[in-house]
Amino acid sequence: MLRETVLVCAIIGALSAPQSSSPCSCSDETEEWWRDSFIYQIYPRSWKDSDGDGIGDLNGITSKLSHLKDLGVSGLWLSPVFTSPMVDFGYDIANFTDIDPIYGNLDGLTKLTAKAHSLNLKVILDWVPNHSSDEHPWFAKSIEGIKPYDEYYVWKDALIVNGTRQPPNNWLSVFLGSAWEWNERRQQYYLHQFAVRQPDLNYRSAALRKEMEDAILFWVARGIDGFRIDSLAYVYEDAKFRDNPVVNYGLPADDPDRLATTYTKDLPETYDLLQTWRDLLDAQGGSKKILLTEVYTTLPLQIKYYHYGSNVPFNFMFVVGLNNQSTALDFKRSIDEWTNSMPKGDYVANWVVDNHDNKRTSARFGIQRADQIGMLASILPGIGVLYNGDEIGMEDTPISWKDTVDTQGCSAGPDRYAQYSRDPERTPFQWDNSTSAGFSTSPTTWLPVNSNYKTVNLEAEKLDPRSHYSVFKKLVAAKKLPAISKGSSEVILATENVLSVIRRLSDSPPVVLLINFLNTPVTVDAAAWLNIPQTLRVYTSSVGSRIPTDVELNTTKLTLPGAASVILH
Ligand code: NOJ
Ligand code: MG
Repeated sequence: MLRETVLVCAIIGALSAPQSSSPCSCSDETEEWWRDSFIYQIYPRSWKDSDGDGIGDLNGITSKLSHLKDLGVSGLWLSPVFTSPMVDFGYDIANFTDIDPIYGNLDGLTKLTAKAHSLNLKVILDWVPNHSSDEHPWFAKSIEGIKPYDEYYVWKDALIVNGTRQPPNNWLSVFLGSAWEWNERRQQYYLHQFAVRQPDLNYRSAALRKEMEDAILFWVARGIDGFRIDSLAYVYEDAKFRDNPVVNYGLPADDPDRLATTYTKDLPETYDLLQTWRDLLDAQGGSKKILLTEVYTTLPLQIKYYHYGSNVPFNFMFVVGLNNQSTALDFKRSIDEWTNSMPKGDYVANWVVDNHDNKRTSARFGIQRADQIGMLASILPGIGVLYNGDEIGMEDTPISWKDTVDTQGCSAGPDRYAQYSRDPERTPFQWDNSTSAGFSTSPTTWLPVNSNYKTVNLEAEKLDPRSHYSVFKKLVAAKKLPAISKGSSEVILATENVLSVIRRLSDSPPVVLLINFLNTPVTVDAAAWLNIPQTLRVYTSSVGSRIPTDVELNTTKLTLPGAASVILH
């Protein structure tokens, strides 16, 4: 899990709003292509390698876009493909307006975008405003004190304690250890909230803000449909550089969870900065651009992003808020809290299934429950966000310390790397049962292919109506069912251990999701408890549940196998 303070499901007091949500009255629904759809995250290093170097690339992605068309998602978000020394695999950017040669070039991105658009798929780039790479030319000029670059980063004098030099305060990096690094040449410390080689940019510099706006416009001019904004909550830090309060005395001195992030994250100015980017994009005319914001924070601070231009303030409740210890009631409470907190008006909820920073769903909830979160993201109102591999039930791949390459894993050291490394969820996509799972012609790849690829792969799953792929295809398609795009929504416990979501639209049968939180079978009179018809058809069911699809079930005496999820309609 990304080492950030996680309070996704903050208790926000007694909630009195009704459980059902009414259909929205959106003014420009057609422009907002992302409503009622799934968006798909591609981790470019791991999706498709076209040149046999064992690392994925843009031409590879372009060659496989038909997969996304088949799956039925509305758009793809590419994790960073910009010039980078790859200390954090692209989240350390040395040129905000060019493509790294590992991935291709600008022409390759133009071709990718054109091909995607021809398939009616939108293209979202990752926008990483908080930091650059230390190899960005701005950083060298900042070290030299050349104006205006001298203020592009966050520099601070050392503290001298008993004659020895120390960092200016106690701030810790998300990737462990002090967030300050001494620079001999400038004779000052610079701030890095992430890796040492990811110096934080200084948004109190107007010149820096202008540079970043120009970079945004560069991509807009190249036909990009929007941005996923990385680590947004870290862009500002306390101007007085006050120490963060210690809250977890038991944790090691280098562990960021030891401190609250009072002075390094979630500062109010963050919202105003986001609004400037929203306004900038809106002022360009043309099609409306989507902004997705990556912030792990409290529910109220998350919801606030809607009011400052985010269309998709990532809802990470299924990724970090809930886990395999959570009960059906925990799920209900968290979902209701989010739904009840949604601002009134043209706003749309979102449900993140997975991403490249956290263990995969199958690892978080167990392989038997690999489809459960996708099912929730499908039936709940709004947008679902998938991570590549979810649709085929990919699993985390064990990686030894020796083979660990993720900076967060490496900085944790051999004893703790397994807890911190994000390598296991980043291994190559499994296309078929050929060499390197069809990801690359090279038998060696930047991270090893999961050994289960002979059976867990797209080609095999396409032929199997009981595969994860067959389930996910239906989940993506379900977003367009009228009851799901327009109906009311209720989250109800059918029994203490059976969570259900019901979408109703007048004059048509409801769509109903049931999830058995026990690992043993449960029989329930769903018709009575949920007020649904006494017979409904199976739309799809989790792999392993053995519930056949397209049969009619008697809902008055419905038996759900252990860990099963099923959608009825
Ligand atoms: C969040 C990204 O998702 C993660 O992969 C990265 O390491 C940090 N931000 C720093 O950019
Ligand atoms: Mg910052």
